[in-house]
Amino acid sequence: MFLDAAGLKVASSATEPAEPEIGQRRLRVVELYAGAGGMGLGLRRAGFELVRAYDHMQCAVDVYNRNLGYHAVVADLGNVASIAPEICKLRPDMIVGGPPCQDFSPAGARIEGERANHTRTFALYVCAAAPEWFVMENVQRARNSAAWADAREMLKHAGYGLTQLVVNAAFYGVPQKRQRLIVVGRRGERDGFLLGSIQHAASSEPMRLRAVFGDRLGDHVYNHPRTPGRRGVWSVDGPSPTIRNARRPQPASYEPHPNDSNYEIVTSCATSSPGDEMTGLYFRPYHDARGVYSLDEPAPSIVRTSRERPRSSYIASPHPDDPSPAASAYILTQKDTSRIQGFPEDWDWSGCLSRDIDQMIANAVPAPMAASLGREILRRERGESHPGVPGNFGQWLAKEKKMAPQMVANAKWRVKRARQLLGGRDLQCSGAEAHALEAAFEQESLAKGTQSEIRRALRQFREWQEKVRSGI
Ligand SMILES: C[S@@+](CC[C@H](N)C(=O)[O-])C[C@H]1O[C@@H](n2cnc3c(N)ncnc32)[C@H](O)[C@@H]1O
Repeated sequence: MFLDAAGLKVASSATEPAEPEIGQRRLRVVELYAGAGGMGLGLRRAGFELVRAYDHMQCAVDVYNRNLGYHAVVADLGNVASIAPEICKLRPDMIVGGPPCQDFSPAGARIEGERANHTRTFALYVCAAAPEWFVMENVQRARNSAAWADAREMLKHAGYGLTQLVVNAAFYGVPQKRQRLIVVGRRGERDGFLLGSIQHAASSEPMRLRAVFGDRLGDHVYNHPRTPGRRGVWSVDGPSPTIRNARRPQPASYEPHPNDSNYEIVTSCATSSPGDEMTGLYFRPYHDARGVYSLDEPAPSIVRTSRERPRSSYIASPHPDDPSPAASAYILTQKDTSRIQGFPEDWDWSGCLSRDIDQMIANAVPAPMAASLGREILRRERGESHPGVPGNFGQWLAKEKKMAPQMVANAKWRVKRARQLLGGRDLQCSGAEAHALEAAFEQESLAKGTQSEIRRALRQFREWQEKVRSGI
C-alpha cells in the first residue's frame, strides 16, 4: 500500500504514474463517467495527472478513490449547469469519459434514450471547458447513433479535429477481443490527425489469454489426504496442509471434497479433474456465440455475466467451434475477469456487492488500452510523433504533377520536415499553419531556398488532401 498526498491509502506501485521528463509538466485530466477507474488507471500510468473524476455510482467512486487517490466525486452528470462551471475552474488539459453505452450496446435494447443522451452531455462539457484534448470511449455501435452525430457536430463547431476509430483491445495489451469506438479530439487539428499513431501503436499479434493464465491454471495442487474423506486439493495461493509425504499423483479414485480449492470447478465441470491440463475457458456467451476459448487466443469482450457457469442447455448443444467441451472448461473467477480487463492483482474492490463489481469490471476501459492511447497523445503533445504522409500522395504527385521518382521522394521528405517543424501539429486553419511554419523557419534559421521548397511541398500536400476529401 502507498499513501497519497492527503495520507490516504491508495493501492500499489501498479497504479503509480510514469515520471514526466525534466521540464515537462503533467497534463491535467478530468474524467467523466469514470466508473471504477479502468480508463483513469491507464491514463495515470501513461503519465497524466487525474485531477477530478465524476460518476453517480457511490461504490464505483469508492473503488476509484481507494485505488487512484481521493479525487472522484459522486455526481449526476445530467446536472450540466452546476458541474460545467466547476470543471471550467479546474482548467483541465484533457476531458475523458465513457458515457453510458447500454442504449447502443449489442447486449442492450438498442433504443436511444436517456443514457444515449449522455453522449451529447459529454460533448457539452467539452465545449464548455474547451480543453486542448478530449477522449471519448463507447461501444462501436455508437458511431452510427443520432446521439453521436449531434455530439460530433457540437465538437466540430467548437473547433476540434477528430480522430475516430474502432480499436480492438487485444492489439493494445489486453487478452480480450473488445472492440470499442474511440474518439480523440484536439483543438484546431484536422480530422484523422492521430489515426496513424494509434494504429502504429497496435501490436502485430493479438494478446492471448495465456498472458494472464499461463502459469495460473495449474494453481491447484493435490496433497494426498491421510484419512479417507479429508480434502486433497489445495490452492497454491492459500496455506497448504502440513507437509508430510503427500506429494503423489492424484488417484483416479479420488472423490472431490467440498473444501477442495477447485471444488466449484470440478463439480460444475463433470469431466474435469484437477490433474488435467485445462484446455478451455468458458465465457458465458450471449445469443449463439461461442462459449469456450483456448488459452492461445484473446477472450471475448468481458460482460457482467461472463463468469456464469455453462447451462445444461449449452452443454447439451455446444457451439461447433468450441475447442474443448464446455463441461470441462475452466470457469472464471471475479479476480480473473478483473485481470483480463487490465486491473492489477491487488486492485481493491472491497465493500461492494459482488454483482456491482461484475458490472464495474465489465464497464471498464481496459487500463493497458487506455495507457497506450494516453502515451500516443502525450507523444503528440510533446512533438515526438507526427502525422504520417500517405503513399498515395506520392502516386498523385507522379500522376498529376508529372514528377520523377526522386522529386516525389524529395517532396514527401519535405512534408515530413514541415510536420516536424510544426511540432506534429496538423492544423486545420491554413493561416495558423503558415504562421507557425514561418516562426519555426526563423527559429531554425533555415536557408531561404529550403524554406520555399518546404512551403511548396506542404501546399501540394494540402491540395492533394483537399482532392481526397472532396472525392475528386
Ligand atoms: C461505461 S461506464 C465507464 C467506465 C469507465 N470509463 C472505466 O474505465 O472504468 C459508464 C459509467 O457512467 C456512469 N453513469 C451513468 N449515468 C451517469 C450519470 N447520470 N451521472 C454520472 N455518472 C453516470 C455509470 O455509473 C458508469 O460507471
